[in-house]
Amino acid sequence: MSNPREGLPADFFWGVATSAYQIEGAWDEDGRTLSIWDTFSRRPGAVVNGETGDVACDHYHRMPADVAMIAGLGVDKYRFSVSWPRIQPGGRGPVNPKGVDFYSRLVDELLDKGVDPWLTLYHWDLPQELEDAGGWPHRDTAYRFAEFAGLVHDALGDRVPTWTTLNEPWCSAMLGYDTGRHAPGRTNFAEAMRATHHLLLAHGLAARELRSRGVASLGITLNMGTHSAASDDPRDVDAARRADGLGTRIYLDPLVHGRYPEDVLADIAARGAGMPVHPGDLEIISTPLDVVGVNYYTSHVHKATGDPAVSEVVPQGRPVTAMGWEIVPEGFTSLLVRLHEDYGVPMVITENGAAFDDLDVEDGHVADTDRVEYLKSHIGAVAAAVRAGADVRGYLAWSLMDNFEWGYGYGKRFGIVRVDYETQQRTLKQSARWFRDLITRPRSS
Ligand code: NOJ
Repeated sequence: MSNPREGLPADFFWGVATSAYQIEGAWDEDGRTLSIWDTFSRRPGAVVNGETGDVACDHYHRMPADVAMIAGLGVDKYRFSVSWPRIQPGGRGPVNPKGVDFYSRLVDELLDKGVDPWLTLYHWDLPQELEDAGGWPHRDTAYRFAEFAGLVHDALGDRVPTWTTLNEPWCSAMLGYDTGRHAPGRTNFAEAMRATHHLLLAHGLAARELRSRGVASLGITLNMGTHSAASDDPRDVDAARRADGLGTRIYLDPLVHGRYPEDVLADIAARGAGMPVHPGDLEIISTPLDVVGVNYYTSHVHKATGDPAVSEVVPQGRPVTAMGWEIVPEGFTSLLVRLHEDYGVPMVITENGAAFDDLDVEDGHVADTDRVEYLKSHIGAVAAAVRAGADVRGYLAWSLMDNFEWGYGYGKRFGIVRVDYETQQRTLKQSARWFRDLITRPRSS
């Protein structure tokens, strides 16, 4: 397809996304305390090459120039997250004025340059003190988060129109507390399920807090893909059902329908775990949403193993990104159509993009043609879903610039802008130029 925008509505919006720990650096400045990622990244073996977010893209000190670069891309929106321990050190008590000031200046710079700020309250950097008190498996953390949401709204609510509570709670719960590949690095499935429920409760409590203050656009962002069976064998079909249950339905069913799916509760019980639901929790969790944020990278085909808790993901022989993730744009279309049919909610693509082993800058250029192809095919897949009836309002590319890719450190580059970590120089890659041309081109061309 020559124009991947074909079929997208005139008011479809475009943007780029980042998160605090991945770009800010300034880990110990101006009163910021530790988050679980500061602690986890210092644990030997946790992150490739022992890298940390201590400096990252040094965005904390380069913010005005970064905002000018964002505006130069011609985007409508910029999605960023706020660092909880920068705004509320230790996760309790009053705000840190210097922390608030940074985000206040960021928001003002964006507005001044005509870019709408899109704020995510939690992109994985829990204050370490709250983890020490029990973390997400502990119910009180949800109440701490709702309080934090109110504090952030007090400071920025007059200027930020769009609010996302949590980014990818599956990662916080499953990678943080079950597989241990993300902070805080615990490995206990039952705790991961408690974390899942408390993250959803945190979302609902914060959503109520924000709604009561008149926030007009409110959502949550989930990472999703399609989960299909490797064969008609009922065991493979069941493996795909379980993966979809723990990956997608365990979030969207309570958020949209106000109940956990029975089959998923049974799967969890079979593994000796449960959801610590108190009376009234599901009403709180299902506080109406304006938008579901969809983060899409790949899709999976599942084959059963002897262990019902584990399914084997079967590679389909497709090209992969530098993460080893298969490139499946049509899975994106199917996912969006399915979400529309099952949940009927407006959606925004809050992340989509790819890491590739980019060539170095040559004469001011980075020829990342594989990323251009990835973006083109995936934007085309979104447009196909819209033509098929899915209500998708906008697309935010992940990511504005190369950054700290969690357990993989700086070796995996997702940016449409290259960052030279020695000099902190930013260089627009070919994909950034392509994206800018696509989104600023008059619709008729
Ligand atoms: C989703 C996460 O929200 C983001 O932080 C991460 O960098 C990308 N996926 C790529 O893995």
